[in-house]
Amino acid sequence: MNNFTFQNPVKLIFGKGSIAKLAKEIPADKKIMVTFGGGSVKKNGVYDQVVAALKGRDFVEFWGIEPNPKIETLRKAIAQGKAEKVDFLLSVGGGSVLDGTKLIAAGIPYDGDAWELVLDEDKIGEVVPFGDVMTLPATGSEMNAGAVISNLATQEKFAFHHSFPQFSILDPEATFSLPPFQVACGIADTFVHVMEQYLTVTGVSPLMDRWAEGILQTLIEIAPKIRANQHDYDQMANFMLCATMGLNGFIAMGVPQDWATHMIGHELTALHGVTHGQTLVVVLPALMSVMREQKKGKILQYGERVFGIREGSEDERIDRTIRATEEFFRSLGLATRLHELQIGQDTIDEIVRRFNERGSRLGEAGNITGDVTRRILELCK
Ligand code: NZQ
Ligand code: ZN
Repeated sequence: MNNFTFQNPVKLIFGKGSIAKLAKEIPADKKIMVTFGGGSVKKNGVYDQVVAALKGRDFVEFWGIEPNPKIETLRKAIAQGKAEKVDFLLSVGGGSVLDGTKLIAAGIPYDGDAWELVLDEDKIGEVVPFGDVMTLPATGSEMNAGAVISNLATQEKFAFHHSFPQFSILDPEATFSLPPFQVACGIADTFVHVMEQYLTVTGVSPLMDRWAEGILQTLIEIAPKIRANQHDYDQMANFMLCATMGLNGFIAMGVPQDWATHMIGHELTALHGVTHGQTLVVVLPALMSVMREQKKGKILQYGERVFGIREGSEDERIDRTIRATEEFFRSLGLATRLHELQIGQDTIDEIVRRFNERGSRLGEAGNITGDVTRRILELCK
């Protein structure tokens, strides 16, 4: 097992009715800016619950943080936050609103342009404290320090890692109103987060392996029930907890990590606006195929323990495991090939060009170069 340092300070407040507990988490003298997306919270009653919980408090609102939050929008929020002397931020929405809020939190005390902070997180100094009401289980942003920000002008999408929310309020009832496509993408995103931390090499940590397999098995078990009835509180509660546990550091202790699927997926979003979870399910099966020798032991273990694939030669079992993974994604109603998303050869060429230019060496062994990425993307067609 590798050495590691683990610290996760996020206070999770979970369950039905927990938005009402909001005010207690924010000191009374704070000037709050509440950040929102495009308006889903007005339709599902979350906005009213937040406003009721903040009764008597000094707060302003910022609306319009879009999916795959754009630096162009966040600059406006930062300017408003500076002008209003905001000293606490509350994100109300999905991962995009929260990721955007993480940049606003770093951008308000910063004198330069906030995109510099995305490109170089070491430039982040003081950060305005923030909390969130999370309405979409997927990113794990509610319990990690990551944020992914897009730049419309340059068609780029990059992650930075700096600060955790002080608290996260997760009420599974807030997810009942999600469009089924977002639910599917959320399940897919969670599944692939676990895979990025799990599908590397065998024998490093049986404990981390079992935790990761537990989340994967839970997702496979609850996915059809959720698709049949998205208002089933217990299923949605388990989904929400899977999403949080999938990317809060608990399954990453002392083990190597991959993340190449995410890096390639981010390019598909940056160039075509494809929803994050949707990009991942196109890339992962192809990545497993191309990296099958290096990942052989782990693919066999995953196939056996998660899908019960025990019969046949190693090659046959690997093939069946990759197929089972793709079939699971298709069972969510998602496309798993580039042509289904109307993405063609020019995009493959552009991603490879970008990775070569950046000198990218992705994956747990740092050997997924631009050329290997081309082989992966050719298989996604
Ligand atoms: O904007 P509104 O109107 O709120 O609508 C949103 C949005 O259109 C809607 N929605 C959210 N909660 C809802 C709801 N609609 C009805 N009922 C609800 N309860 O869903 C749409 C998508 O929301 P978004 O926040 O974009 O989705 P998600 O949470 O999947 O976030 C995706 C972003 O997170 C990044 C992705 O790259 C992408 O930019 N990621 C962040 C990570 C992190 N911080 O650690 C890791 C991930 O790998 C990921 O990269
Ligand atoms: Zn993700």
